[in-house]
Order: sequence, then structure tokens, then C-alpha cells
Amino acid sequence: MPKVLILNGPNLNLLGRRESDIYGSTNLNDLETILGSNSPQGMQLIFFQTNHEGEMIERIHQLMDTPVDGVIINPAAWTHTSLAIRDALIAVSIPLVEVHISNIHAREAFRHHSYVSDIALAVIAGCGIQGYVFALETLNQQLKG
Ligand code: DQA
Repeated sequence: MPKVLILNGPNLNLLGRRESDIYGSTNLNDLETILGSNSPQGMQLIFFQTNHEGEMIERIHQLMDTPVDGVIINPAAWTHTSLAIRDALIAVSIPLVEVHISNIHAREAFRHHSYVSDIALAVIAGCGIQGYVFALETLNQQLKG
């Protein structure tokens, strides 16, 4: 059974309560439930969210000893700042899809650069929380070869 780890970075615990004009009204728990019921058959989902960069890096490091088949990551603000998260993702070398709820390219210039995009097999931005479902489908296709 393929395992997919879904990582959410800082402030995404506030989904549904934070800038809902940009990020929508669904909260993180509901997002996880939606993903659980929309995941391709037989896929096991594992969820992790943190506001602490070191915790995110350590969660990624755990994949060295306890790997998964794919990673979906919304690094949130770390997208634009964190070489350390990029390096951790490269170190574990697991197929990954980068997701952004908003279209980062239609927003402030400082959101246009991502430290993750060029190491991701796909980047989904601007589709709202549906982007996570698209990411699951993309990984599923990829894992099926
Ligand atoms: C985000 C976009 C980032 O620029 C921002 O810092 C976030 C969320 C998104 O999902 O659209 O926190 O990753």
C-alpha cells in the first residue's frame, strides 16, 4: 500500500481562520478528512503540520529510516526562505509534489521564488485546497509508473 506524507508548514494550522479571502474557509482538520476520502484507492496518508522549521526538517529526516513512497509539501512561507528544508528534501530523495493554496505567482514578488519547485516533480498553485487532491492524483500516477 503506497504511503504518502502530507507536510504543511507554518500558519497552515490557521487554515479557515486566516486570510480566508486567500486561503478559503476549510480548516486543516477538514482538509485532512477531505484528502482521506479523496485519496486514490489503497493509498495511506500521513499528516504533519508544524510552525517550527527544525521540527519540519527533523520530520523529513525521519524518512531516511522510515521512508514513504511520496511527499506532498506546502512549505508555506518557508517556500521562499528555507534552503535547509530544500536540502533535507534532497537528502531523502523521495518523489514530491509542492502545493500552494494560492497562486504565489500572482502575489507579491517575494512569493515568486520557491526553493522547492525545481526539486519537485510537480508544482500546484492557485487551485485552493483542491490542489492537494490533484497532488495525490499526480503522485498516484507517478507511483503506478
Ligand atoms: C502558501 C503561499 C505562501 O506564500 C504563504 O507564505 C503561505 C501559504 C499557499 O498555500 O498559498 O503561508 O504556501
